[in-house]
Amino acid sequence: MEPDFWHERWKLGQTGFHQDAVHDDLVQHANWLLGGGPKRLLVPLCGKSRDLHWAGAQGHRVTGVELSPVAARAMYQEQGLPFDESSVGPFGRVGSTDVSVLTGDVFALQPDILRSTLGDLPDRLWDRAALVALRPDQRPRYLQALRRVLAPGARVLLNSLVYDPTLHDGPPWSVDEPEVRALWEDAQVDLVDRVDVLEQEPRWKERGHQWFRRDLYHITLPDPT
Ligand SMILES: C[S@@+](CC[C@H](N)C(=O)[O-])C[C@H]1O[C@@H](n2cnc3c(N)ncnc32)[C@H](O)[C@@H]1O
Repeated sequence: MEPDFWHERWKLGQTGFHQDAVHDDLVQHANWLLGGGPKRLLVPLCGKSRDLHWAGAQGHRVTGVELSPVAARAMYQEQGLPFDESSVGPFGRVGSTDVSVLTGDVFALQPDILRSTLGDLPDRLWDRAALVALRPDQRPRYLQALRRVLAPGARVLLNSLVYDPTLHDGPPWSVDEPEVRALWEDAQVDLVDRVDVLEQEPRWKERGHQWFRRDLYHITLPDPT
């Protein structure tokens, strides 16, 4: 979608995708994603997700990327947490040393920008409602941006949604397993959980869907060293 679409959503408070709790998939898979010492976690298209401060409180360094400065500020204001504002290259930066949000376009990410917020390249990534929030034609460019900045051997926890696309046009878009495997091509892609969540998603039932699936992947990048 165009940036104006998202800025408008944040301005009008139309943020039904936001969850007031830390995401259960992140909590359940924290050992795999974040176990074994402090990590550098990238959270693209982060909104005002609680997940960033949760990971920060476990000792990890966290950087989110979000178009909307309104969302980035809300992530701190709503928790009563202090933050400052500066800029890094083409991005605004909202937050503290350990947990910050780059405000701007994820497609503009560059390695040096993340080195400056995380100390080094991110070695972990949490994608919830990010890949599925991008138009199908934007996905390869999104993957290029991520691959440009992720450290070799990085781990990715990906929460994807799959539904009958003839019944709905995104966002969120349906991203099925063949597409995930094609996008992450040379990485190790393991589908670790698949559940039909239609009962928890009344809006999708009302739209006539018979099923609505959440697929969860562990993805490990190659490490040539
Ligand atoms: C569906 S929401 C998901 C937010 C968050 N991941 C969550 O789980 O609550 C998608 C978010 O991505 C942001 N966004 C959309 N396109 C973007 C882009 N090109 N670069 C950075 N952020 C973007 C939107 O402003 C919106 O907050």
